[in-house]
Amino acid sequence: MTALQGLRDTGRFQSGQKVLVIGASGGVGTFAVQIARALGAQVDGECHADNVEMVRSLGADRVIDYTRGDVTRGAARYDVILQLGGTRSPSALRRVLAPKGTLVLSSGAGRGGSRASTASSGPCWCHPSSANG
Ligand SMILES: NC(=O)c1ccc[n+]([C@@H]2O[C@H](COP(=O)([O-])OP(=O)(O)OC[C@H]3O[C@@H](n4cnc5c(N)ncnc54)[C@H](OP(=O)(O)O)[C@@H]3O)[C@@H](O)[C@H]2O)c1
Repeated sequence: MTALQGLRDTGRFQSGQKVLVIGASGGVGTFAVQIARALGAQVDGECHADNVEMVRSLGADRVIDYTRGDVTRGAARYDVILQLGGTRSPSALRRVLAPKGTLVLSSGAGRGGSRASTASSGPCWCHPSSANG
């Protein structure tokens, strides 16, 4: 439900768009990757090295291991970014958000203890014009 809500309702995802799921190996992320694919997205996922193959098997076009690379430094631009893990700031994520893209934040705890949380019970969103900090 959270994955569908984040992508379709909050993210206003449309078929053919490019989606990034941060936390793709998690309870919500595994559904988000599969739903995005089923709805016609090109979908990239980010997770720990241990889970790269699993996320790939769910249908992700590209899987980024966050212990080896920083997805916010890549060349890809995403129409919808669903952040379900980690604590990247909106301004960092904005670097890889398409000009009219939507950033959906529902990030909580990750490996290594507590992390800052933007929304713990449901996704919130912001567009680039409001993603300044
Ligand atoms: N589950 C629900 O029903 C539900 C409902 C509403 C809202 N939410 C919210 O949605 C968010 C995700 O929930 P979840 O159940 O999917 O959590 P989860 O199963 O614990 O998954 C967390 C994900 O975050 C990834 N992650 C951890 N550290 C990261 C980092 N530094 N950079 C990038 N990714 C990192 C993990 O990847 P690795 O395991 O590969 O490290 C994992 O894929 C939470 O904020 C939760 O409060 C969940």
